[in-house]
Amino acid sequence: MNATQDFSGKVVIVTGAASGQGRVAAGMFAARGAQVILADVDLAGAQAAADEIGGLALEVDVAREADLAAMVAEAERRFGRLDVLFNNAGVGFSASPRYKMAGITETPLEAFDAIVAINLRGVALGCKHALPLMARGGGGAIVNSASINAIAAVPGADAYTAAKGGVVSLTRVLASDWGPRNVRVNCICAGPIATPMIGELLEDPEFEASMTTNIPLGRVGRAEEVAEVAVFLASDAASYINGVILPVDGGWSAR
Ligand SMILES: NC(=O)c1ccc[n+]([C@@H]2O[C@H](COP(=O)([O-])OP(=O)(O)OC[C@H]3O[C@@H](n4cnc5c(N)ncnc54)[C@H](O)[C@@H]3O)[C@@H](O)[C@H]2O)c1
Repeated sequence: MNATQDFSGKVVIVTGAASGQGRVAAGMFAARGAQVILADVDLAGAQAAADEIGGLALEVDVAREADLAAMVAEAERRFGRLDVLFNNAGVGFSASPRYKMAGITETPLEAFDAIVAINLRGVALGCKHALPLMARGGGGAIVNSASINAIAAVPGADAYTAAKGGVVSLTRVLASDWGPRNVRVNCICAGPIATPMIGELLEDPEFEASMTTNIPLGRVGRAEEVAEVAVFLASDAASYINGVILPVDGGWSAR
């Protein structure tokens, strides 16, 4: 392993670590030597992942500030520091009707608020609580999960898109504000990735075809292909990358 991707002695929190990209990323951080906290609203899922890869499972609903504060406090209590936060938790297309994905005129106010509370406010408040601890420890790295929706017009999920657009803007301002304290903040904008979030949709060949026609590589991505980028951005190999909004989308946004 490249020394700059060695996480020995580092403490990493991954939100949304019970499934999909977060679970794979948590496994990669652990395999590269990190102490990993797997935070998810699905505690059983996070525990199953922690049992498999090693690490500490925590029940965290990112829509609740108290949970995020407790998550960071637990990192400090157990390990005395926090080096990396991967703000990955999110709700998307095949989540419950509570998070209805639709155009703005068909999005109930409750769904809009619930989606923003998780996908944007959860990221903002995760940063709010993590940044001071990272800075006290001499620095750190935050990787935020936005989406292709934040940088290209993808119709039919307007609350999701607005929230992810907010994550992009938030990343830039935090990178600027906290760079002087040696905390880097970067953001991934993934295209369609074969995880449980869009798993049901991908079973429909018409949906898959509608996605892949936009993608020069001609296929949806794998969780590993995003997780690898998240781990890179969090690592010392990316020590001069700050405030970047990085598409991981097979070329969709290049068109
Ligand atoms: N799959 C895609 O096509 C795709 C594309 C672009 C961006 N993304 C983003 O990638 C991130 C990871 O998604 P994924 O594809 O791995 O999906 P996933 O559904 O497999 O995983 C999402 C995880 O987030 C957790 N979660 C949901 N609400 C939560 C809450 N309130 N508090 C804590 N945890 C919560 C879920 O329990 C789950 O474990 C999300 O932010 C998603 O918006 C996904």
